[in-house]
Amino acid sequence: RDEKIWLTLSFGMIMIFMLITGYQAFALEMGPPSNMETIDPTKVDQTAPFDKPGVKQVGENEYEVVMTLQAFSFNPNKIEVPAGSTVTFVLTSKDVTHGFQIANTNVNAMVPPGHIQKIKQKFDKAGEYLILCNEYCGAGHQVMGTTITVK
Ligand code: CUA
Repeated sequence: RDEKIWLTLSFGMIMIFMLITGYQAFALEMGPPSNMETIDPTKVDQTAPFDKPGVKQVGENEYEVVMTLQAFSFNPNKIEVPAGSTVTFVLTSKDVTHGFQIANTNVNAMVPPGHIQKIKQKFDKAGEYLILCNEYCGAGHQVMGTTITVK
């Protein structure tokens, strides 16, 4: 009788373990973080604020960069802000999941289609900062990059 209980128990454990693993795989694959706002990825160009991508001053030393990502480019691909500004990047993708990494900063984010990713970064030092896609997105992934000029 004891054996039966142990057998049932271990079978139950295996089932639970499989359920957890399955759920995690599902959540990871399907799941951009649920705290992101969503939009229709097929209507990015018609959806505010992405109907007008660009750099906008929103306060003293504060800028907002509305940007769309698409294989294999960033729009706008020319960004200039004064040194000392805090920039909020508002990002979305028009096709597949891209990455948004700014060299020499801690900025490193995923930009899935249909989701709005917002990142804030202060740029104290003047210079050219490289922006890279760090999420494999297809044949042109390696060349997907741009720069932000801080002057
Ligand atoms: Cu976009 Cu890799």
